[in-house]
This record gives sequence, C-alpha cells and structure tokens, in this order.
Amino acid sequence: MPEHHISVNLQHAVGQINPNIYGHFAEHLGACIYEGIWVGEDSPIPNTNGMRNDVIAAMKKIAPPVIRWPGGCFADDYHWRDGIGPRDSRPDRINIWWGEDIENNHFGTHEFLQFCRLVGAEPYLVGNVGSGTPGELRDWVEYCNFAGDSTLSRERAANGSPEPFGVRYWGVGNENWGCGGSFDPEDYAAAYRQFSTYLREFGQTPLYLIACGPRNNDIDWTLRFLEKLKPAWRPKIHGFAAHYYARARDPQGRESYSAFTGTATDYTDAQWYYQIYVGLEMERLVMQQRAAMDSYDPDRQIGLIVDEWGTWHPPTEGHHPRHLWQQNTIRDALVAATTLDIFNRHADKVVMGNIAQTINVLQAMILTDGDQMLTTPTYHVYDMYQAHQGGQSILLQVDSDVIPFEINGKQYDLPALSGSASLKGRTLTLSIVNSHIDQPIETTIDLGGIKIKQAELSTLVGEDIYSHNTFAAPSQVEPRLTSLDVPDGEWVHTFEPASVNVITFTL
Ligand code: AHR
Repeated sequence: MPEHHISVNLQHAVGQINPNIYGHFAEHLGACIYEGIWVGEDSPIPNTNGMRNDVIAAMKKIAPPVIRWPGGCFADDYHWRDGIGPRDSRPDRINIWWGEDIENNHFGTHEFLQFCRLVGAEPYLVGNVGSGTPGELRDWVEYCNFAGDSTLSRERAANGSPEPFGVRYWGVGNENWGCGGSFDPEDYAAAYRQFSTYLREFGQTPLYLIACGPRNNDIDWTLRFLEKLKPAWRPKIHGFAAHYYARARDPQGRESYSAFTGTATDYTDAQWYYQIYVGLEMERLVMQQRAAMDSYDPDRQIGLIVDEWGTWHPPTEGHHPRHLWQQNTIRDALVAATTLDIFNRHADKVVMGNIAQTINVLQAMILTDGDQMLTTPTYHVYDMYQAHQGGQSILLQVDSDVIPFEINGKQYDLPALSGSASLKGRTLTLSIVNSHIDQPIETTIDLGGIKIKQAELSTLVGEDIYSHNTFAAPSQVEPRLTSLDVPDGEWVHTFEPASVNVITFTL
C-alpha cells in the first residue's frame, strides 16, 4: 500500500482563483524590454509595430492576465512623458538601477499598452513616488484614461490613441522601503495618502490602486503602514503588494546565494531541495501577511498581491551582473509550480501574483538571442497551469513523506509531494509536484467517488535535474501528454521524480 495519499473534496471550495495570480512583470532592465519585446520597426526580426512576433505569439499562448510595467526599481526613476511622442525626439536617460544603460525611451506608454493588447493582458502601470510628484502620476492617469476633451487626452490622440486606454491597475510606487525612496512605513503611508488623493477615475475606468507592501515577510512594515494609513484608506487603496524572491538567506537573514542554492544550472542535490524549500516559504508569507492585514481589514477589501516573485540566481558569466540574466532549469519549473500551487490553495487570500520577469531577466518565461527565441521550463508550467485560472480552488489534502536534507550544517525537511486543485465548469484540475530527485512516488488518489469521463496528464520532467532549454536544443524540457484510465473511486498513480504534473479530469 503506498504511503502517499491525495484526496480532493469537491464539497469544500476555498475561493475563486483570481486569474491575475498568473500575472507577469516586465521591467526596463537588461534585455527584458529592449531585445526581449522591442526590436524596432526596422528590425529584420519579424515584428508588429516594433514588437517581436515570436514573443507576442508565445506570450499569447499562456494567456497572461496582467503585466506589470515599467518596473521595479526603474519605475521610481521613470518619467512617463519621456516615453511618448515621436521616438526620434524622446530623451536618452541613464537607467540608474540597471547597469547605467542608456534608456532611449523608444518603448513607452503607447508601446507597452499595445503589447498588452497584442498578448491579451491587462496593463498594470507602476507610478513614480520616489523621484516623482503626485501631479505627474495624476497626469499619467488622465493621459491614459480620460475620454473627454482635455489637453492631455488630445495629446494622447495626437500620439495615435484617440480612444482612452482604460488602465485599471496602478501601483503607487515600488519597493518604497528601498529603491523607491528609502521610506519608513509611516512616511510612505503619508506619501501614499497624498499621491492617491489625486488619482481619479475620470468618469470611465474604476481604478485599482496598489500600495507598496513589505520586503519578504516583513510584518512590521505592514502593520506600521496600515496603522498610519487607517483613518484615510477607503476607498483609496485596493491592493497591497509584497515582494518575495526565492533566494537563500544566511543565518543572519541576509540574502546570499551560492552556498545555499548553487548557480542557475549547477547545484548539489541539497541545493536543489533548498531552492524549492526557500520557494515554499511563500506560504508563510501569504498566511502571515494576510493575517496582519486582516487585523485592519477583516472584510478583505484590500487584496494581497505578490507583484514580484521568483528565483534569483547569482550573476551568469558572460552577462552584465546588473542585467540579471539567468538560465532556467527544471528546478525553476518546480519553484514556479509549487508557488502557483500555494497561490491556488490560498485563493481566498491572494488576488494577484507577478513573476519576475517575462523575458531575459530572472525567472523568465522566454529567452531571446538575436532572432532566436526559446521558452523555458517555467513557461511550460504557466502553460500547463492555465486550466486553474479563474477556477474554484478546492481543498486538497496531500499526505506525503518529507525529504530530509542538510545544508550548511542545518537539517531541513521538504514535503515530497505538494499541489493544488480547482474546478472550472466540468473540468477538475489537479496539479502535483514531486520534488524528490530520484524517487518515483506511488500515490493513492481519492476524488471522493465522482464520475470521470476522461482524464489527461501533462508531465514536465527533465532528463536530469539540470535539464533546461538552449537555442541549440530548445525542446529539452517540454510537457508530455498522456491519457489516463481513471476508475471510479480510489486509484493509484506514480509521479515521476523531479516532475510537475497537471491532471485534467472531465466530469
Ligand atoms: O526584479 C528586479 C528588481 O527586484 C526590481 O526592480 C525590484 O523591485 C526588486 O528589488
């Protein structure tokens, strides 16, 4: 009899999985925007108004619900007027955060909003609090959203968009405890209150305003920010966004890399496990941050967002260290899958997630090199998990062994299996990750006696635990589809080692 057991209880719904949990983030950083999306209209790389067609098609396929832009740290040094009007006359600025690259502003508001339309995503614009003014941000909202006749809406029309863009999601700064102005929570709350006062709906698009939340699971930031904001918050705050990167911390809590997680493509077995372990810390963040928010906002009118997350490996040789380029292996895919499972399981708490970053930066969906493009193992997870978007999260019980491992003299336990379940119409989706490096896990699965008409399994697994896609071999890691014969009642399935699995049942 297997010792591993999964049961799904269709009677117990957790909440609707907000599709925005499957959101993305694209910053003016390294080759994310320039090269990754924007190649310019005169490029020999096939493009639509300057944006690469291969990237548009690949992104469209994974149904991105929302994309956050233009940063990141970049956002608090970005002045939106630099990125509108004829491209030849847009200014060259220094990207102070990311390698002091020259930013020619050829990709600005109109280009980003067109990219969103081409891939089918809602835009999420992040305003400049650190070095900007409330007036500048207020004007950006008017420029984007005002349908009537004003100087700014006429300027938008003259720049090619007579119709308002209708941008709903607005970030009021980014990481304002750090690169967004080095505020303390009280001062940021005061700035937030001031900025948000001037952000208006202009009659058409209801705004969803997002405040900067904590770095990692910093409860102090959350409580102090909400305490200060309390008397004035409604209705001017709708989301509160934490950032959490799955990178190792040393015993003093400082972020460090190699000793704990290795590099992007070179790691020991223990480092494999630790990377997944540190990713699973997201669950504690979600539960504790939501609990802290609940103490001020028990009706959950303010949504918890994690608008930057993902793996962050040491700089890759041959790439500028400030360009944050990294390879993406099956290990990254497991971190993506286990994190999305956490968001699904806590659908009652998380309203948006934005993995960092879409192309050529950190835990990317896509890598490009000149006219070549590949999709990463993480991309395939997003593709496989699409079925969860908008579904009803269903309580999933996973009884599995733990994997004990030791790193830097300390013992840890990692659950061997983890996952989530959701129901959308007549489709039940079950995603299960087996984190074990070399053990297949035989598991009994109990769906509570429901009748299954058809079941299909999609499995993502590498040849080994370092497998990844390269331009020479872009299909090393791709999902494999199989039909399953599922009897009514309890049945047994064996999950391959180091694998991400999505089973879709037609009821
Ligand atoms: O995603 C890279 C950077 O990480 C972002 O610019 C910043 O917000 C975070 O520290």
